[in-house]
Amino acid sequence: MEYDATSVISRCRGFRRVMELARTAASSSCTVLITGESGTGKELIARAIHDFSRRNTGRYVPINVAALPSELVESHLFGHVAGAFTGATHNRAGAFRIASGGTLLLDEIGDLPQATQPKLLRALEAGEIQPVGADIPVPVDTRVIAATSRRLEDMVRDGHFREDLYYRLNVVEIHIPPLRDRPEDIPVLAEYYCYRHARANDKPVRRLSADACLKLLNYPWKGNVRELSNVIERAVLFGQGDTISADDLNLRDDPADALASTMPLHEAVDEFRKKHIEKVLRIADGNRNHAAELLGMSRATLFRYIDRYELKGFALNSRNGTGSH
Ligand SMILES: Nc1ncnc2c1ncn2[C@@H]1O[C@H](COP(=O)(O)OP(=O)(O)O)[C@@H](O)[C@H]1O
Ligand SMILES: [Mg+2]
Repeated sequence: MEYDATSVISRCRGFRRVMELARTAASSSCTVLITGESGTGKELIARAIHDFSRRNTGRYVPINVAALPSELVESHLFGHVAGAFTGATHNRAGAFRIASGGTLLLDEIGDLPQATQPKLLRALEAGEIQPVGADIPVPVDTRVIAATSRRLEDMVRDGHFREDLYYRLNVVEIHIPPLRDRPEDIPVLAEYYCYRHARANDKPVRRLSADACLKLLNYPWKGNVRELSNVIERAVLFGQGDTISADDLNLRDDPADALASTMPLHEAVDEFRKKHIEKVLRIADGNRNHAAELLGMSRATLFRYIDRYELKGFALNSRNGTGSH
């Protein structure tokens, strides 16, 4: 099987809506706001928008706003003229000008200092920037994509982020759901990383065992795809034998499990059963016949659980999984 990141992205079912939006956004130069937890693929999508767009002959310039010292943000973005401040010995173009004709990614935009926020708004609205210490503004043709793992709405409400800038950035919003909310993507991505890390480290490509796969499906992935990649890499490097076992994954136990560990056994089993059936129904696209097969139970038993746990919402949108009761 051929593997590259783009084929993986498009095989991820939970990612399809995201890719559709990215393609639509690529056909214009409007500002895009990409939201999602850390490690969900925000930078990957920003890059994809640039690559799909007519601007792909221009430069793609990613800037992590959170990594810049606040007093240097303005000159990094808009440039400066020599002598504008101590240490400014030469002219500096700034990211907006370097990305003119192309795309500028402002990652972790929630960390943009409040003093710089009106200047960014002006650059977006007027299509021109004011380099630090310059007398006249400079026109730019820069497509801006902003990304954030923080909830900007909350920052606006609390007065930390300008509302007008928020609306200006949020012309199109692309939200990437956390990996735990799209479990159907986990096996595809895990397989891809088994292959990729084995190749990169000169190791034989090994398959994931069924119990390893189950463990991956039940893990909360707070670090999302980035964490999944790291976990698989470690298993590829240190595992033995011809498959990757659940133990090779070396996953911490979910702290939520520790909390739940004081409940009576039958309640814990019930809770696990509900979660597991819900996940399998999602993987089976709501198709009850397929889900029953995967779960190794009769359809009648599955229907009983769907009733008991009120999982009808997960079982309805199937092609042939409904109405056959
Ligand atoms: N759907 C996907 N297919 C392939 N790789 C992915 C996918 N989503 C995320 N990744 C990979 O996961 C890692 C984290 O993605 P990144 O774009 O840096 O996340 P973020 O910017 O949201 O923190 C990167 O190595 C990226 O290539
Ligand atoms: Mg990132």
